[in-house]
Amino acid sequence: MPLICVCSPKGGVGKTTLAANLTYSLARAGSKVLALDFDVQNALRLHFGVPLSDGRGYVAKAADSYDWSQNVLGASGNMFVLPYGEVTEQQRIDFEDKLSHDEHFLTRGLGSLLNYPGLIIVADFPPGPSAALKAITPLADIHLVTLQADTASMSLLPHVENHRLTGGALNSKQGHFFVVNQSDNRRQISRDVTAFMEEKLGEQLIGIIHRDESVIEANASQKSIFEFSPASAAAFDIEIIAKKVAAKLGINVGDGTVHNMSRMSGL
Ligand SMILES: Nc1ncnc2c1ncn2[C@@H]1O[C@H](COP(=O)(O)OP(=O)(O)OP(=O)(O)O)[C@@H](O)[C@H]1O
Ligand SMILES: [Mg+2]
Repeated sequence: MPLICVCSPKGGVGKTTLAANLTYSLARAGSKVLALDFDVQNALRLHFGVPLSDGRGYVAKAADSYDWSQNVLGASGNMFVLPYGEVTEQQRIDFEDKLSHDEHFLTRGLGSLLNYPGLIIVADFPPGPSAALKAITPLADIHLVTLQADTASMSLLPHVENHRLTGGALNSKQGHFFVVNQSDNRRQISRDVTAFMEEKLGEQLIGIIHRDESVIEANASQKSIFEFSPASAAAFDIEIIAKKVAAKLGINVGDGTVHNMSRMSGL
């Protein structure tokens, strides 16, 4: 059940883009992968061809204890997506309340997915601290903290190390690693911040993703960067990160084993 959490102290840094493309990359390497959205923006699904008009998701019904896997949607290949869904403000509040106050809420909802043999879960979070990130952290195998190659991200680095994201250490399994996104060699400040992060984070910096227009275009066309522009710098960078994550989690890339998940996709 490897569980990968993509989070950040900062908004708009590329968490959702990374979570989606990591899902594609791990799936291309042969694993079954579920992209799980914990952000009320409900944007992760758009990377998997789910139409904007499709508001299905697990949160609306989550406060009545039930198995969230009923809301898993099948995407292409061996990928699946569990959208947050379009919810009312009250439904969002009820969900966060349960996450914060019922310690078994998450494991009940996600139980069958967490126990599904060989399934990798890539979870995307809203920026900054959240009830979901705090609740799932004890179950996580690795956190990928996404930052941008700019001074605003740099100034938030202490927030991560001072446990401001969850009130505690990020996880006790593989630990947390940083990804610096939108590094731009043409801009001095971006070069400087990237160099600073490399120096400061050392081995904890698991990858750097170049600023690449094809990422924006791939997102706009609801395609992965691998499909939209396989020879792009960003595709190369994200593929390397996926391989490093797989190695850390002991995921056997290229094994291609296909398990029957039809009973949970509901499609
Ligand atoms: N490497 C990149 N090069 C160029 N543009 C990028 C890159 N990565 C992400 N983007 C663009 O940056 C914007 C923000 O990306 P994304 O939505 O993934 O960020 P986020 O951290 O999930 O945001 P939020 O905090 O709102 O959830 C998007 O328009 C995306 O296309
Ligand atoms: Mg996002």
